[in-house]
Amino acid sequence: MKKQIEQLSAYEPGLSPRALKETYGIEGELYKLASNENLYGPSPKVKEAIQSHLEELNFYPETGSPMIKEAISKHLNVEPSRILFGAGLDEVILMISRAMLTAGDKIVTSEMTFGQYYHNAVVEAATVVQVPLKDGYFDLNGILNEIDDETKLVWLCNPNNPTGTYFTHEELKGFLEQVPSHIPVIVDEAYVEFVTAQDFPDTLALQQQFSNAFLLRTFSKAYGLAGMRIGYVVAAQEAIEQWNIIRPPFNVGRLSEYAALAALEDQDYLTFIRERNAEEREKFFAIDKRDAFFDSQTNFVFVNTSKPHELYEALLNVGCITREFPNGVRITIGFPEQNDKMIEVLKDFEL
Ligand SMILES: Cc1ncc(COP(=O)(O)O)c(C=O)c1O
Repeated sequence: MKKQIEQLSAYEPGLSPRALKETYGIEGELYKLASNENLYGPSPKVKEAIQSHLEELNFYPETGSPMIKEAISKHLNVEPSRILFGAGLDEVILMISRAMLTAGDKIVTSEMTFGQYYHNAVVEAATVVQVPLKDGYFDLNGILNEIDDETKLVWLCNPNNPTGTYFTHEELKGFLEQVPSHIPVIVDEAYVEFVTAQDFPDTLALQQQFSNAFLLRTFSKAYGLAGMRIGYVVAAQEAIEQWNIIRPPFNVGRLSEYAALAALEDQDYLTFIRERNAEEREKFFAIDKRDAFFDSQTNFVFVNTSKPHELYEALLNVGCITREFPNGVRITIGFPEQNDKMIEVLKDFEL
């Protein structure tokens, strides 16, 4: 085994609803609000699409996911040669790291962000610089200060998981203006479809000026397809060609591709999800402990508390499984019924 893998551990999923019920003696339904999934599920059209392709399970998918690539190309108005699909962004992040990093290279990212940038860099024996957040936000200037000749990749997450905070179009533009153009800046926009802020970056537009700005998107979150494992990167064609060499030939399943096609077509459903989520998000922010929350543009809210485990347990007691962090609890926004229950808990809880 590679020596550096010894310092990592396998992904810890947290207890399942069944195990939690046993451990805490909980009766009644438990809702999983720990992984930022879309509780409403995908568009109903997705199920129809999957059902109509059930006879093809014995065949490998077409390599490179050409149908969904074509559809995304039209949807975003970018050439298909600039898009690469993975079995979720998890695999896209793995492929990029595998293709680009060797021992001694450096990546720069933030503290308290999506863990897979770090994890995959360590597997490749790269050094990871994690710049602390500034008041809960990515510190883009701090990140700039860490970029040097050894830097091979910069990972940004916008909006950020687990804080939910975002940086604006002008901030990203100002940042890209200062990064040397040979260093890829990868912006993970896994939650972009939930964003309602008007000044959120148009990263696709910025790509026209900054060919080193790469963009990650997924069908796992607002599109409700976390179980299907499909996500993609939009980047410079040369980068896509290189990453494609190490892509496993049949990495995205056949049904995943059909599911994503149907989900993409139903933009009305996506609008419904965005609006419903934004309404519910506001309910959390309306409580008088607003200062304890990071600002969120996503389908989750992060509550800062010195007693994360107690808060986690209090939320569990009203049937909601959330995710505990050393400095707080991340709550995926659920159906109104669960949100209302969690809000009542938060009102009474001494953070
Ligand atoms: C910021 C961010 N990037 C990537 C992922 C991975 O998404 P996928 O399901 O597409 O692998 C997640 C999942 O939680 C995420 O929060």
